[in-house]
Amino acid sequence: MAREILKTHDLIFASREKILASKALYDGADIIFAPYGSYWRELRKICVIELLSAKRVKSFSTVRQEEMSNLVGYISTMNNSPVNLSEMFLLISNTTTSRVVFGTKCKHGPRFISAMKKLVEFLSGFSVADLFPSLSFVDTLNLRLKKCHREMDEILGEIIKEHEEKRETMNSSNEERQQGEDLVDVLLELKENGGLEFPLTITSIKAVIMDMFGGGTETSSTTLDWTMAELMRHPEIMEKVQAEVREALKGKAKIKEEDTNEFHYMKLVIKESLRLHPPVPLFLPRVCRETCQMDGFKIPAGSRILINAWAMATDPRYWRTRRALGLRDSMAARWTTKVATMSTCLWCRQEDVPGDDLWHGSGGDGPGQPTLLF
Ligand code: HEM
Repeated sequence: MAREILKTHDLIFASREKILASKALYDGADIIFAPYGSYWRELRKICVIELLSAKRVKSFSTVRQEEMSNLVGYISTMNNSPVNLSEMFLLISNTTTSRVVFGTKCKHGPRFISAMKKLVEFLSGFSVADLFPSLSFVDTLNLRLKKCHREMDEILGEIIKEHEEKRETMNSSNEERQQGEDLVDVLLELKENGGLEFPLTITSIKAVIMDMFGGGTETSSTTLDWTMAELMRHPEIMEKVQAEVREALKGKAKIKEEDTNEFHYMKLVIKESLRLHPPVPLFLPRVCRETCQMDGFKIPAGSRILINAWAMATDPRYWRTRRALGLRDSMAARWTTKVATMSTCLWCRQEDVPGDDLWHGSGGDGPGQPTLLF
């Protein structure tokens, strides 16, 4: 059924429904909650080509390296005292995103992060108004959300104003501009000189920034949380990961991003942890745009669609340990290329889902048996 929705009839289900959370994200002016159409397509293109392109991501590697060494340095000073890694992971994820989006010198970053934390707390879980729209008057979440949103809007306004002022005083030569460019600079440049079909407004810039934080920070830190928890539950796998890291970093005083290319086993462990504990277990609600028939059911236009990613990723019909490989660590052995395909699909809200069948790859060793990565 999920395959029918995400692949066969993707276009019919490619839009989002307005839920309470979308109000905090400028009423669908962002990418995550924008209804399907040319505005969403353009924002998504900006995201793929400008904000998250390989070149741009690479340009921020110093920021990631610095934050990572701060974390490692901090942990090493703790000797044998307990460290709250969950807090550390959220901190590193927030600080890195803030430096990439707002720039290293932005003084408003910490204020924004603390408002964002409040917002995420409000938005985790179901809201009465979303489940029973007629009872929305009893849901106080709406008011709390509005207050929080006002605060974030104000902070974002100040950040954007400062960036605009900086642009005015800067030499107009492209080279000087590109040095030390953060994502707000990129968005402002696109707003002024991007030649876009839909001119970017300050509201859409604010909404995209909210997406970067809302979509990228908690998800990443939750993934690390679960990975550490699984490693603690599987000491033999922890040992293998440690051995791999020590081997790859042998004799190096500083960790560089390229060094992580050698962390093959660790990457598998992280992917497996993503499968077992997807940070967004229920995909964001989609809406059916036209009445259609599926699996003998009639799905009326306007129906809300929730897809249970966790159930798909843990269904024993598709996820079996491959003993043939002789790998004792079942946790990593269950990881398959098909999950890689699935992660790619997280980005696809249109018909561009990779052509291969998500769950029944032809390269497997029997019906329903997916191809193994290693
Ligand atoms: C472990 C990390 C992440 C996980 C598990 C994750 C998960 C998801 C999921 C489940 C969706 C919804 C897919 C759908 O309904 O079709 C989504 C969409 C999205 N995510 Fe992520 N995400 C992660 C990291 C990030 C990062 C780092 C960013 C940005 C810097 C980001 C930005 C977005 C955006 C903009 C969308 C909306 C795409 C659209 O609707 O077209 N995510 N993500």
